Amino acid sequence: MKPMNKGVILTGLRANSEFHLGNYLGAILPMVQMQKQHAGEYQVNMFVPDLHSFTTPIDHDALYQQVIDNLRVFVAAGLDMQDPNTYLYRQSYISAHSELAWILDCFTYYGEASRMIEFKDKSTKIGHESVSVGQFNYPILMAADILLYGATYIPLGDDQKQHLELTRDIALRMNQKFGDLFVVPEVWAKQLAFTKRQSVRIRSLRHPEKKMSKSVDDPAGTILLGDTPADAAKKIMSAETDSLEAINLDWAKQPGISNLLSIASLLTDKPLESVADEWQGKISYGELKKAVATIVQEFLTDFQQKLAAVDEVSLLANLEKDEASMREVANKTLLKVQTAVGIRRSPVSNNR
Ligand code: TRP
Repeated sequence: MKPMNKGVILTGLRANSEFHLGNYLGAILPMVQMQKQHAGEYQVNMFVPDLHSFTTPIDHDALYQQVIDNLRVFVAAGLDMQDPNTYLYRQSYISAHSELAWILDCFTYYGEASRMIEFKDKSTKIGHESVSVGQFNYPILMAADILLYGATYIPLGDDQKQHLELTRDIALRMNQKFGDLFVVPEVWAKQLAFTKRQSVRIRSLRHPEKKMSKSVDDPAGTILLGDTPADAAKKIMSAETDSLEAINLDWAKQPGISNLLSIASLLTDKPLESVADEWQGKISYGELKKAVATIVQEFLTDFQQKLAAVDEVSLLANLEKDEASMREVANKTLLKVQTAVGIRRSPVSNNR
């Protein structure tokens, strides 16, 4: 087994039917960089919360392969499966997640769970009669995901802040009642300071005031990682800009231009300011588009080659090895909790 006596950073990699350039630059690359930066000093747990996938309706026939395909994308993006401090696993392969979630359910108040904004939004949209109890419950499963491994740092988007706070509240409450059961994750401010997350938000090429997403009505605004490099270049060439006729980094007045500069900066790994300086004041939007189109085309060609080269057999072998290690860790925490709540006998009383 790999060594395990460090602080734990834990990331949940939500299964996705198809990734786009915004996901890649805003979430996948930062995660790979986080691994590179911290894996020496911390244990890095990266898992796919596959049990969370059907809190809302999905294509169940596609899910299994989707999870594997997502992991292949992460590996192609540079995630190092072999790193001795990194564990890659699927939530549902470690049954302690579900078992701990039930126990935590019983120490979470209906009132506090009802205040979760994500649930309120979804239940308003879907309707109270048809939103699933799983959707309601999922922040508590998320608490189990975190508490099983004693994770202190959990890089998350702002939309997940409340779920982290709920996790802390449950942990503190149970620690108070049962003694030191859980490692309590750091408060939100410390999480932000730790990840020093500069938020990368790639915008739609057609509607640069909105973020790039799969669900925008105009698919020409979104570059999928599976697009042919030539198609992607075309999308850049037809990107929406403005009529100011001078290139400036100005998200308010020139969101389309700023978005192109930002894509160029992230894909070439140059600071945004220096890319902006290069183009500052130039007048040809066509030249900028051509340059960015070339960068995107080269990136996709390279990325798709890497993706094709990811070996699924060794990916699966790695997953299974890490899942076996994490099962041991998770089961240890679970047994401690089961003992505390009275459904297992403590080793001391066993000896009497
Ligand atoms: N809820 C997270 C998201 O939507 C995914 C997730 C599930 C997660 N369990 C987690 C993230 C535990 C971090 C830790 O992005």
